[in-house]
Amino acid sequence: LEYEDGNFERKDYATIFEVTNKLYEDNLKDEKLQYLLDRGLTLESIKKFELGYAPRSDKQIAHLRDQNISFEDCVDIGILAIDKDKLYARQIERITFPIRNHLNKLIGFGGRTLKNSKDIAKYINSPETKLYSKSKVFYGFNHAKEHIFKKGNIIVVEGNLDVIMMHQANLNTAVATMGTALTKEHIIQIKKANARAILCFDGDIAGKKAAYNASILLSQSEIDGGVVIFDDGVDPADMVKNDRTDELYALIKKPINLVKYALNYIASNYDLTNPIHKTKVLKECVEYLKTLNPIIANEYKGYLAELLNIATYHIVLG
Ligand code: CTP
Ligand code: MN
Ligand code: MN
Ligand code: MN
Ligand code: MN
Repeated sequence: LEYEDGNFERKDYATIFEVTNKLYEDNLKDEKLQYLLDRGLTLESIKKFELGYAPRSDKQIAHLRDQNISFEDCVDIGILAIDKDKLYARQIERITFPIRNHLNKLIGFGGRTLKNSKDIAKYINSPETKLYSKSKVFYGFNHAKEHIFKKGNIIVVEGNLDVIMMHQANLNTAVATMGTALTKEHIIQIKKANARAILCFDGDIAGKKAAYNASILLSQSEIDGGVVIFDDGVDPADMVKNDRTDELYALIKKPINLVKYALNYIASNYDLTNPIHKTKVLKECVEYLKTLNPIIANEYKGYLAELLNIATYHIVLG
């Protein structure tokens, strides 16, 4: 197989992906479709995001064989996998979320089980392939891209359903890291759009920690933006599903500044009534501020002094 244009896009791969995606889309019906409707998705959203349902492995393999598609190619792009010399589909009996790149080409799938069991992964995503790299992909970017460039903001969420529900609520600059950390590669894409980043991660310990790490990376990259914090156990998809869109709009309008969020997060790990702890927070916060552009860092001296109830001259950044 030849590369199409010296780029990472191979024509045959695109065809295989489209055939597979169509199989999944056509197979979304009955209780599988109902599941998505019960989660608050409209038929319009389901169609727009091309959601589907992956059939049994043998059915998929038979379908690919019927279309004269090379199994080797399917393995290359993560549609099929080999385990103990046996060929099987990667997405089996799961709701499928096709993942398209910025050029609208399919590069992978996410898949959610309908089963409620601790023994199986809730989501299975494409493996790392020539086309798919989890540290680069923003789920939903194909739909969000033009709005991100036009509006100058990007809303970053954790999950596939968060993206879809955000778009359903007209928050069409939303993309997801699909549960992985925000990386330097993601930052490059945000920089290209010259966008403000609004982090809307889940209201749980993991979400708050992920927002902290992302805030550090974004502020170090001199990207403006903020963090939205949800109630415990709530994520953006829940906000839309539960008719809390007005609250969501208000939160997104007034996010906590990225640097302030990071400073607050550091402080939240300590007991500020304890003077020893306070010096530790000061040290950690100063270390962080020193990694920023000094002009920017200097702007937060007053905030940090207030947070710790200390005099600004104790905050030495130089
Ligand atoms: N994720 C994953 N593998 C897992 C769990 C999560 O890849 N085993 C990714 C998925 O992209 C998921 C995102 O991380 O959408 C956020 O995870 P989580 O908050 O646990 O799931 P939700 O998106 O809230 O999914 P749901 O509402 O269906 O439970
Ligand atoms: Mn289609
Ligand atoms: Mn989560
Ligand atoms: Mn979630
Ligand atoms: Mn959720």
